[in-house]
Amino acid sequence: MTGLPHLVLFTFFYAAVLSESVNSLEDAKDELAAYIENKKLEINSRYRLLYHVMPPVGWMNDPNGFSYYKGKFHLFYQYYPYDSVWGPMHWGHSASPNLVHWMDLPTALIPEEEQCFSGSAVADGDVMTLIYTAHMPTSAEPFYNESQYLAFSDDGVDFHKYDGNPVLPAAPNGSPDFRDPKAWRYGDHWYAVVGSKTLDQKGRVLLYKSKDLLSWELLSVLGESKGDMGYMWECPDFFELGGKFVLLMSPQGMAPKGDRYKNTFQTGYIIGNFDYTTNEFIPETEFQEMDFGHDFYAAQTIEHNGIRYVVAWFSMWEVPHVEDADGWSGAMTIVRELHLADKRILMKPVAEMERLRQHVVLNEKLRRKQARLLPKASELIINGNLLLKFEMLLEGTNGGGKVWIRWDPRTRKISVDRGSGDVRQVEWSPIGARTLRLFLDTSSLELFCGEGEVVFSSRITPPPLMGLFHSHNPQKYYLSTTQALHHYETR
Ligand SMILES: *[C@@H]1O[C@H](CO)[C@@H](O)[C@H](O)[C@H]1NC(C)=O
Repeated sequence: MTGLPHLVLFTFFYAAVLSESVNSLEDAKDELAAYIENKKLEINSRYRLLYHVMPPVGWMNDPNGFSYYKGKFHLFYQYYPYDSVWGPMHWGHSASPNLVHWMDLPTALIPEEEQCFSGSAVADGDVMTLIYTAHMPTSAEPFYNESQYLAFSDDGVDFHKYDGNPVLPAAPNGSPDFRDPKAWRYGDHWYAVVGSKTLDQKGRVLLYKSKDLLSWELLSVLGESKGDMGYMWECPDFFELGGKFVLLMSPQGMAPKGDRYKNTFQTGYIIGNFDYTTNEFIPETEFQEMDFGHDFYAAQTIEHNGIRYVVAWFSMWEVPHVEDADGWSGAMTIVRELHLADKRILMKPVAEMERLRQHVVLNEKLRRKQARLLPKASELIINGNLLLKFEMLLEGTNGGGKVWIRWDPRTRKISVDRGSGDVRQVEWSPIGARTLRLFLDTSSLELFCGEGEVVFSSRITPPPLMGLFHSHNPQKYYLSTTQALHHYETR
């Protein structure tokens, strides 16, 4: 019994620490806010995007808590403020009235014992509830475990963690990989999908149900790899679209197959049927990538006023990022609307993007190999003849990089080529419009083909200030400039 006095002492000490931790957490948030304000002055802005959400300083990865609460859209993200590489995870926060103009808000979650990994947010009456993964160090292999935590806010700005955490302590099979809860409301209940894996390393998604967000019941394994779809399914989402159900997730460990799965990790979806009485998802399609560019991961959706919106991390794991040396890393894609057409998802820029058009700088037919200077942030609408081969070169002035966009009517492939064989390409069969809509920002490209049946999101070694482009066939271009949108001073 020699351990008993120690145990009592420890308990006493622990209680004292806990009562102080509320204050020290507030202090830590204040210190962090001051750090960010100060550090922003040191950021090299040469590659900063003008109309995408980015971390004010430091590292960003997955979008989290994409939600609508008290009249605003909220977009949180995996955040490490202290370096431009990944580190102990916080939740950064931005908000928008219209999905286009964003402003920074104070860091929503800071890690304590637990790192605050990905999750989602719901409006539960007047309360905004975050459900996120607590990633904890442990003393035995694999030296971490994962459980689901809650945090609450009455104003969508200040969050406090729930006293009763965890609300979902462990995966049913004991796998340490149990993360990225995405919650939604259906009928009188909350539902959530959580990413996980089987004990023999196959990705899967678990479906849970709750009356109050506090206690959860496992309903089913909603989807699982048969062996060729990766060792872990991260960031699952599940929603109804056009009368079908979509299981969206980000598998890690899928082997490249021809043109497909060339990024470090994938984000894609399976379309099928689902019934809330059986909790069974019956796939009707194979897994399909959601975006065909170099930089698109961990997509998360919400529905608002009957429209399903998606946003993704506009970067990739285990690749160099142009901005790494500049005190920040990572961005979010522009927000897109989703529609279902013939067993695939169409992705279009949100209608509100048109608000960013300021003036047309060019509206003409270009002759062969003509070059034009482009504004740093611009939208190009390209009406080409798809019977003809087409190539557009975006080239940095001052020795910036080169990126080619190509259409080949013979193979019906459209591609984004960053040079040195770093190509992403896919077959495109227009189902309606044959227009290309290209969004350029300082160091990024988002190309929407036709009705959104093919989309590429790629960070590009930037045209530092301006770009030049060439066309091999007469094509019609419409350019409009966009304005700077990311506000820092609104706190
Ligand atoms: C996870 O790890 C933490 C820290 O070691 C521990 O307190 C907690 O009980 C663990 N959870 C499970 C479900 O093992």
